[in-house]
Amino acid sequence: MSRTFFVGGNWKMNGSISKYQELVNNLKGARLDDNSEVVIAPPYMYLLPAQELLKGNNRIQIGAQDAYFKPSGAFTGEISSAMLKDAQISWVIIGHSERRTLFHETDDEVAKKVQAALDENVKVILCIGESLEQREKGDSIKVVIGQLDAAAKSVKDWSKVVIAYEPVWAIGTGKVATKEQAQEVHAAIRDWLVKAIGQGDAEKVRIIYGGSVSGANCKELAAQKDIDGFLVGGASLKPEFVDIVNARL
Ligand code: 13P
Repeated sequence: MSRTFFVGGNWKMNGSISKYQELVNNLKGARLDDNSEVVIAPPYMYLLPAQELLKGNNRIQIGAQDAYFKPSGAFTGEISSAMLKDAQISWVIIGHSERRTLFHETDDEVAKKVQAALDENVKVILCIGESLEQREKGDSIKVVIGQLDAAAKSVKDWSKVVIAYEPVWAIGTGKVATKEQAQEVHAAIRDWLVKAIGQGDAEKVRIIYGGSVSGANCKELAAQKDIDGFLVGGASLKPEFVDIVNARL
């Protein structure tokens, strides 16, 4: 498989000054697979301090967990992709299910945020995924492809985008998708990419899985043909994050 493995750590709204120092220092000191691209996404207030701690380290990149689509203005509480670019933050997570459900973010807003990030040259981890109800109705692939269709109109260069398939029912529940369930959706996403951008480019796009990934379950998922890495929540706050980064070793 020629795609570089990709592992993102989404800390969500967790951490503290001492915790981010511990996590970053642990990662810096760990042996990480050279073929694994690693991005950590701490809360906004720890982005720059984490960047400072990682000075001189070119193995670990930093991402934000969201960014608004306007570059600046009267949008209390928001930060923009223009600001991320200014601060040399190279990645941003967009469309996470917690944003979509708890903060009512629509497909249209997700598309605008993707557009704004790519316009600023900030790379995007685009999250998509179905709810339990949608899965039980047999609509998983339909939902995921619908979310992709909505965001795709903002993407001209897919080399700047990683697609994260995160079934909502698997996030933070300890109920990881089976390797067959995950591979089935990843293959459908790959087929969609082939139709959208052609076989050659579609083969280069990383499609990563998120939802209760752990040190214990990452290896068998990582062995699937279309699973090119992970977006990790809870386990990214623990030492086992290193095992997930090294899932292909
Ligand atoms: P958990 O790994 O805690 O299930 O979270 C997954 C996730 O939402 C990553 O973005």
